Amino acid sequence: MAQGKIGVLTSGGDSPGMNAAIRAVVRASLSSGYECMGIYHGYAGLMTKDAVRLEAGSVANILQRGGTFLKSGRCLEMLQPEGRKKAAQGFKELGLDALVVIGGDGTYRGALALGKEHGIACVGLPGTIDNDIYGTDVTIGFDTAINTALDAIDRIRDTAASHDRLFIVEVMGRESGFIAIDVGVAGGAEAVFIPENYTSIDETIQHIQNGMARGKMSSILIAAEGQNPGRAYDLAEQIRRKSHFEAKVCVLGHVQRGGSPTALDRILASRMGAAAVECIKSKQFGVMIGLQGQKLVTIPLEESASKKKTVSQELIDLARLLST
Ligand code: F6P
Repeated sequence: MAQGKIGVLTSGGDSPGMNAAIRAVVRASLSSGYECMGIYHGYAGLMTKDAVRLEAGSVANILQRGGTFLKSGRCLEMLQPEGRKKAAQGFKELGLDALVVIGGDGTYRGALALGKEHGIACVGLPGTIDNDIYGTDVTIGFDTAINTALDAIDRIRDTAASHDRLFIVEVMGRESGFIAIDVGVAGGAEAVFIPENYTSIDETIQHIQNGMARGKMSSILIAAEGQNPGRAYDLAEQIRRKSHFEAKVCVLGHVQRGGSPTALDRILASRMGAAAVECIKSKQFGVMIGLQGQKLVTIPLEESASKKKTVSQELIDLARLLST
């Protein structure tokens, strides 16, 4: 007789390491005597009961793969009470006792509402490349994404230097500059534009000109996409209007979301997935697993979904200090 049945789903933008997290949830559940079901296509699959029973072998050979084999999506129906009722109905008809949701803040808001309105027992895992989840130092997929972006930036540095060019590289991060600031520091960017902190175009131009006066003939600026993917083109245009610089633009886009997860992401996802099952065993629901320092912690979903994580001022200052 099983302890109960645990469902697992991935929702929102996918991130490298989601598969590793699913694997950990499945194997930890089974070893504690639970049955496990994978829900396809996030909350949409819960509504339609698009689910599969997962055994230990079902998650073999996925640890190293990017994306999510359970598929993902943003489910607008979850914003409506009717949609949530449908999801709760699906949960009950599938015979689930608890649900592990892997995703970002939108995913958490869905889980919170399911808990409050329908008493559904949820535990969240932070899966997003954006790293913009309050309560955890890092999210699953962030490390892989910054390394992917950094690899591209290093390549752009080569060609920028060969042609004495100015480049603007746009990285992902909807309304958040975590990816941008990290790759800005790691890639030696001359300036970083993020939504959380104002960077003056005039000062950036002056900074580039100062560098040229010292013989530095190529530069790389990093821009977080903010709310408008493609905003690096606007920046290039503003710089062109105010100076003679013709900046080349490279938008890295969804490349950053794919690829085999780094060791760090695989370990993080594995630890967090197993910790989610521990929460279920101790009937701790309405929480998400976070990493603070080296320690796993649990944070109420309510707190995580309502608070904003801030980009480190130390990194913002460091990027400026070292870009001279
Ligand atoms: O996963 C988060 C994110 O990568 C954001 O940085 C980005 O704006 C968004 O997803 C784009 O996702 P999609 O194109 O899938 O809507």
